[in-house]
Amino acid sequence: MVVFMLQYAAATLLFCATARAVTPIVASTTSYGSLNDPLNRDSCSSSLWTNNVVLWVCRDSQIIDANGNPEDPSIANTASFSSLPSAPHNPKPLVLSPSETFGTLFYPLEADECPPLGLCNGTRWVGWPDTGPVVTFRDLNGAVNAYAFMTRQHLSGLDVIETPGYSLYRVVSEHAGPLPTAKVEISKFWSGTQIGYGTAASVLHNGFAYLYGATPNRQLAVARAKLKGLFGSLEDKSIYEYYVNGSWTKTTPLYNDTTIVLPNTSSKQGTMYWSPKWQSYVWIGGDSFPDANFLISTAPKPEGPWSAPQQFYSGAVGNGSLPAYSAVAHPSLTDGTGDYIFITWTRTRPAPSGEDLYDTPLVRVDWK
Ligand SMILES: *[C@@H]1O[C@H](CO)[C@@H](O)[C@H](O)[C@H]1NC(C)=O
Ligand SMILES: *[C@@H]1O[C@H](CO)[C@@H](O)[C@H](O)[C@H]1NC(C)=O
Ligand SMILES: *[C@@H]1O[C@H](CO)[C@@H](O)[C@H](O)[C@H]1NC(C)=O
Ligand SMILES: *[C@@H]1O[C@H](CO)[C@@H](O)[C@H](O)[C@H]1NC(C)=O
Ligand SMILES: *[C@@H]1O[C@H](CO)[C@@H](O)[C@H](O)[C@H]1NC(C)=O
Repeated sequence: MVVFMLQYAAATLLFCATARAVTPIVASTTSYGSLNDPLNRDSCSSSLWTNNVVLWVCRDSQIIDANGNPEDPSIANTASFSSLPSAPHNPKPLVLSPSETFGTLFYPLEADECPPLGLCNGTRWVGWPDTGPVVTFRDLNGAVNAYAFMTRQHLSGLDVIETPGYSLYRVVSEHAGPLPTAKVEISKFWSGTQIGYGTAASVLHNGFAYLYGATPNRQLAVARAKLKGLFGSLEDKSIYEYYVNGSWTKTTPLYNDTTIVLPNTSSKQGTMYWSPKWQSYVWIGGDSFPDANFLISTAPKPEGPWSAPQQFYSGAVGNGSLPAYSAVAHPSLTDGTGDYIFITWTRTRPAPSGEDLYDTPLVRVDWK
């Protein structure tokens, strides 16, 4: 039910006081309260879907009953739409529209993952997204094509039993209106001895998709795919290159190749985006459970050099059993200038029954 195990392990970040090309300075912050969500949902991330419509994907999701208590079952992921947030002089809670049919996972589990709910023999397969889909095509009628990279993860309690690869899902809207459908495009697109490129974060810029995955020492490695054809063709392995020992190569490295680790990065949950304001790639993420301390790091290129992460915001924690985690950013909710960003974190508070209710505060950060 809880997800913070992925973020527990310590990663030592060095806070060097060396000069950087970009110095993010907070001008102001505006609280938008918590997401107004009809479901009890963990760890939501987002992608801009169409003009003014944002797609949210969340982890464990439950219905809330008439007494305000979460109801079983909990399903491993769901999706919703929202509009863009109101202006900062009039901050209003952002409304997530309900999932269309509660009970069906947005990213379905595969045949060998004990579908539909992932429960078998006292263990659980989880389909917990860490980041929003990579949107590679949109048209004016609301047709959208996107891809998502999902970790195939099998847990006993919160201990990982196995991670047999990472699958590529295709996420498609044929027209404006209903939530998109997500289907497995290629199972085990990355094997269990490769990096799960695209599972941690992604950013599209200059005709490439840059796809980040966690390394065993809890930093990031990056692959890039030169988008091809109308829909980007991320299912085509021939368009991929990997950053290995200081250069781009066509050969997929092993997950434990130490020369793929990008200095100053962290695989704690976070978000990548391109900032026109800073002419820079940006990573925003957290210092993980049980805090909501937000860190920012920038780089002139997707592969770095990444600046040492600096803390720029500290979110209030909850009074349930999970104080705070899943500190992420939402470039999807901005105008794309890089002048400001939205951030959320997940915390819990007790329901009347004493069970945990998830709560997702939304804050706008304007940069100097
Ligand atoms: C559950 O356990 C039984 C007996 O140990 C085994 O035969 C079966 O394959 C297991 N099922 C799954 C889906 O792992
Ligand atoms: C990495 O590249 C450097 C040259 O830039 C080379 O000296 C070194 O042997 C390479 N390391 C590996 C593991 O290939
Ligand atoms: C890296 O992983 C491969 C495949 O699991 C394994 O054969 C190899 O021994 C590992 N290398 C190191 C240095 O751990
Ligand atoms: C890490 O960030 C610091 C501060 O920006 C920088 O001085 C250092 O060179 C970076 N390390 C690497 C290996 O890029
Ligand atoms: C927990 O926090 C909520 C607000 O998020 C508040 O309404 C509630 O009274 C607090 N409960 C306790 C036991 O402090």
